[in-house]
Amino acid sequence: MNWTRKDLLGLKDVSAEEIQYILDNAATMKHILSQNVKKVPHLRGKSVITLFYENSTRTRMSFELAGKYLSADTANITASGSSVAKGENLLDTGRTLDVMGCDVIVMRHNCSGAPHLLSKHVNASVINAGDGMNEHPTQALLDMFTMVEKKGSLKGLKVAILGDVYHSRVARSNFYGLNTMGAEVYVASPATLLPKNVDMLGAKVCKTVEEAIEGADVVMNLRMQLERQKSGLFPSASEYAKYYGLNEDKLKLAKPDALIMHPGPVNRGVEITSGIADHERSVIDEQVTNGVAIRMALLYIFANRRNEE
Ligand code: CP
Repeated sequence: MNWTRKDLLGLKDVSAEEIQYILDNAATMKHILSQNVKKVPHLRGKSVITLFYENSTRTRMSFELAGKYLSADTANITASGSSVAKGENLLDTGRTLDVMGCDVIVMRHNCSGAPHLLSKHVNASVINAGDGMNEHPTQALLDMFTMVEKKGSLKGLKVAILGDVYHSRVARSNFYGLNTMGAEVYVASPATLLPKNVDMLGAKVCKTVEEAIEGADVVMNLRMQLERQKSGLFPSASEYAKYYGLNEDKLKLAKPDALIMHPGPVNRGVEITSGIADHERSVIDEQVTNGVAIRMALLYIFANRRNEE
């Protein structure tokens, strides 16, 4: 397809054709990852900067490795190690990177909408690596890629998303992407951790975790975002684990071949038992590997966008 989109800020307005194009490119990139020498010249002469105002292991490292495997020049900035710590604002930082000739800025920020703002002021493509409680589109793309790899297609899949939906940008991006691709999304969450408009986001709300898991093809547990909790949203981690955590008994309600997914990082013993995290049907490690393939595909598509202008 002729790729015209400048930035990837979320999956809310991304079409099925665009998502399929990214997933198809990721399949090619996954093949490169399986080679003994994982280095190809596809992005030689292109530059990628990761600009992270929030902690990350998977997203930041996978973008960095993705860029290196494609032979891009990559650099990495964190808020604490840059002039942000001296008071420089977001737009000045972004414009500074832009005029250095950067092709893609990958950005994580604790404020919803920060990548959208930056994207309006730079020529580089901006890829949202997670903005506040809004979206985490590259995580949802790697989740969908993993589901397609294991199940063949997203169409008609029953996906149960469990836990702290309110704070979860992963959940929001998955609602948009999975609905666009024809999957059916069910959620179960404590009432205090469920956004008011969740049905408008394309998720069917279940009264219990058991109802959501019943007959599911995929069970995705969200991380309990302990750092974003205001007091009183749930009584205690142990109570949350008892009623909303995934364990062997609850998993029996899903299809026998249901996938167990989690975006990471995992709070073992809270939203998921250790046994379930390491279960034979857990694809948590494969999600991480597929994250590199998806991010290689995205860097390839967006860094080459200007060649097509
Ligand atoms: N899933 C995810 O975004 O993980 P990181 O915070 O480690 O990047």
